[in-house]
This record gives sequence, structure tokens and C-alpha cells, in this order.
Amino acid sequence: MNVPSSTDAKAGRVIVFDTTMRDGEQSPGASMSLDEKLELAKILEDMRVDVIEAGFPIASNGDFDAVRRISQIVTESTICGLARAGVADIERCAEAIKPARRGRIHTFISTSPQHRDHILRMSPADVIDAVTGSVAHARNLCDDVEWSAQDATRTERDVLRRCVEAAIRAGAKTINLPDTVGYSFPAEYGAMFRDLIDSVPGADEVVFSAHCHNDLGLAVANSLAAVQAGARQVELAINGIGERAGNCALEEVVMALKVRGDALPYYTEVRSEHITRASRYVSAITGFPVQFNKAIVGKNAFAHEAGIHQDGMLKNAETYEIMRPEDVGQGASNLVMGKHSGRHAFREKLKGLGYELGQNALNEAFGRFKDLADKKKTVYDDDIIALVDDALARGAERIKVKTLRVIAGTEGPQEAHMTLVIDGAPVSTVATGDGPVDAVFKAIKALAPHEAELRLFQVHAVTEGADAQAKVSVRLEEDGRIATGLAADTDTLVASATAYVNALNNLFTRREKSAPEPMTASGF
Ligand code: KIV
Ligand code: ZN
Repeated sequence: MNVPSSTDAKAGRVIVFDTTMRDGEQSPGASMSLDEKLELAKILEDMRVDVIEAGFPIASNGDFDAVRRISQIVTESTICGLARAGVADIERCAEAIKPARRGRIHTFISTSPQHRDHILRMSPADVIDAVTGSVAHARNLCDDVEWSAQDATRTERDVLRRCVEAAIRAGAKTINLPDTVGYSFPAEYGAMFRDLIDSVPGADEVVFSAHCHNDLGLAVANSLAAVQAGARQVELAINGIGERAGNCALEEVVMALKVRGDALPYYTEVRSEHITRASRYVSAITGFPVQFNKAIVGKNAFAHEAGIHQDGMLKNAETYEIMRPEDVGQGASNLVMGKHSGRHAFREKLKGLGYELGQNALNEAFGRFKDLADKKKTVYDDDIIALVDDALARGAERIKVKTLRVIAGTEGPQEAHMTLVIDGAPVSTVATGDGPVDAVFKAIKALAPHEAELRLFQVHAVTEGADAQAKVSVRLEEDGRIATGLAADTDTLVASATAYVNALNNLFTRREKSAPEPMTASGF
């Protein structure tokens, strides 16, 4: 897969730039471990994403390692790292992407008066000098340089024009104009692209890129408006994850272009049947659930409940379906799973649900499925999704729940008798609490002392019925680091204990990551 030249781009091909691991990971609590990033990079490459923004190398050693390792294993997609307009940032980024078959430095600086005055304390002329210096330095280290005007949509048009011109002159090949604060309307965003593409010398030699945040729910509409106005790269994140209201959802833009090619004659090379797999993986490792009615990847996106709709669907799926579930990787598998189902049927079912597991993960998930099938009469697709997500979300397990017995009821205090295995050694305690969950969490804290605060405890039933599995999410925060744990079990208290322990394991193994201080002078 090659990133199209500006000639291909004019022919209607839109470059898909995935920023799930960089801008997406900036949402509080969405941090991913190195192994999870490597797996996600492979999923994105299989999906034929053109550019993978793998991290912000100067932000932490963890980010640097992730960009470098992904550069070593991905051969098809371009691997990109982010850098502010400073020598140290750019050189660290160049070092991280060095092993990549195709590498890109993405350097940015804020251009709007709000950011210039309050963050950078730089005049427009200083910013333009920094653009020239940073892009030229990046080009000395890498052939493929993208330049972004942070907060472009709130920048005076004349200042933005001069910045874009400076970036093109200094050698940038991609010019990204982000709607950083999700403020723009589609007509305005499109007009900004049209104006700059028409008026900046050299604009026809570069690819213009859209990068939209979703604060007003307009990220997809704005990105499509930019494409109509001449942009040929869109910056996207799986499930739309990202800071605040998130980034533009990759699955929505890809499917809008695929389904409505009649209205918008542009296309991407993304293999859309990999979308569900990517969505499920990102949801599992971040612990961020996908809302049920989310376009393309929500649980209800292809469900027809109303009688009149069901009747139409039975007569002809085109009555109410504008795309087929298979187009986004939701296989129409009718396999009913139960305790007699074998490994082969289980693998087929997983494929239909959008999962492809390696042999070890498959064996583990199959074992857990068998245990579940012994407990539950009917194992629904949602049960299987919950148990696979639970398995994917588990990192290195320093701590494991061995046994749990809880005394609950109207006469308090409730009591938890718990044995954990920590670094291979069993340890036990009894704790009381204000309710059984409190008792369980206190027992864990007594056995594995930590200062983390509980930030989220969420329980929901995976299916209907009294024997439904409970899916529990727990989010912990310690010293500004956030980690999430997920678990599913037919026993709500076991699921709660396991989710808490998983969050704790993730907290221990996740690298420390803090955003670098905003730059007040660029050094160029
Ligand atoms: O939203 C934004 O402006 C960004 C830039 C760093 C590209 O993410
Ligand atoms: Zn952004």
C-alpha cells in the first residue's frame, strides 16, 4: 500500500490517517500498553490504513518505544510521530521513526490568537519563523513531513495563509488544518480549505488534511466538507475516541464515503470489513464502551426491533438497510453456541463477531466459554463478546483473584473473604464494608496496598435473565495515571473483584505518561 501522490489524491483517493494511538490516547483513561499498541498497529495495517500516528515520542519513553517498535513491525502503512516546533521534539521523533519502511514527522504549532497570546506568547511573525525553522529541520531528517496549524479554524485567515505558505516553502508535503476545539461548521470548514488551496502558492503540490474534534458533534460532517473542498487526507480515530468529545470517527467517515460514493465521488482504500474488529479491540483495551446506537459499530447499528421494520427486512434487506453488517465485519453467523460447541465453531463464531485471536488467546477464551456454558443454559453472542473483551483487556497479571466468598444481606456489615495470588504467592484476608462491593474492594486494598482512588465503578447486565453475566468496568487513578479494568462473570461480585484487580494490574504495568509542557518558545 502506497500513500498516494498528489496526482492520485486529485483523482479522488482520500488518505486515511489514524490517530487512535496519539490523539485518541489523549482521552483521560484511554492509555494503552506497548503490547496493546503493537496489536492495534497490526489491526490497522490489515485494515489498510495509509498512515498510523503511533505516538508523541518526546512525551515519554513509553511513547518513544511504541513509535519505534511499531516502526519496526509495520511494513505497509506509513508510521508517523508527532513533534512540537522544537529541535528536541523533532529529533526525538526522527529517531523513533528511523526503522520505519515509510516514516513521517508530523510537526505542529498553534496559530490562533488565543493560543499565540496565552500559550506561546509569540507574535504572528515569530510563529511563521518557527514554522519555517521546524519544517526545514524536519525535512533534513525525513522526506515525508506533515505540518499542522493547531487551532487553524480560529486563526485569522491572513496569518494562516502566511503560515501555510511558509510550511510549503520549507518542504512540508502535507498541510493539516485542524478544528482543534470542534468549533467549525461544515460550510465554514470547507470554505477555509477552498480558500487556502486556491490562494497559497504551491498548494497544488501538497496534500491538504482535515483533523476535526467533535465538540459540537460535527467532526464527520466537517471532515466530509473538507474532502469536498479539496482535502485528500482525513485524520481519524477508531470509535471517535479522543480528548473531550473525541476525534472524528474513522468508521463513520470510511463508511460515509463508501456508501455515498454517488454523492461524494471520493474513496479510501480501507478494508471496511475490518472495522468491527478494530472497534471491539479499541473498546476492550481502553475500557471505553461503544454506545449502543453508535453509527456503524454500535450494538444496535444493524438491529431492527420495530415490527414494521422487521417485516420490511424479511421481505428485502434493502428496505431498511443502507449497508450490510458484513460490510463492516459483523458476520451473519447463525451458530447457536452451547456447552457442546467445539473449538472450530467457537472460532467461526468469533470471526463472525469481528474477532481474530491468536492461538493462545483463542485457547484461553475457549476455556472460559466452556466454563460459562456449564453455568448458563444459553450463551448469547453478547456473552461471548463480554468474555473476549475481558480477555483482551487483561495485561500482565501480577495479581489474580483466587477465591472470593462474600456475606451480604440486610444485616451489615458485609464481609468479604478473599484470597489473591500476588507475584505467585497466595495471600488471604477478611474485610468488612458498607455493602458487599465495598468489602471486596477493601479486601483487595488490604492485600495489595496502593494509593489509587476509585474513579468509576460501572455494572451492566450483558444479556437478559437472572443468569446474565455482569460486565464491570473499574477505573483507578494514582498520581495522575489512570487505568481501567474490565471483567465479566455470572457472579457480579466476582466480576467486580476481577475488574478492580485488572485495573490495578494495568496501573502497575502502564508507563508513566505526562503530556509535555506547552512550548513557550520554539527554538527556531
Ligand atoms: O487537534 C489538534 O490540533 C491536534 C494537532 C496536534 C494536530 O491534534
Ligand atoms: Zn487533535
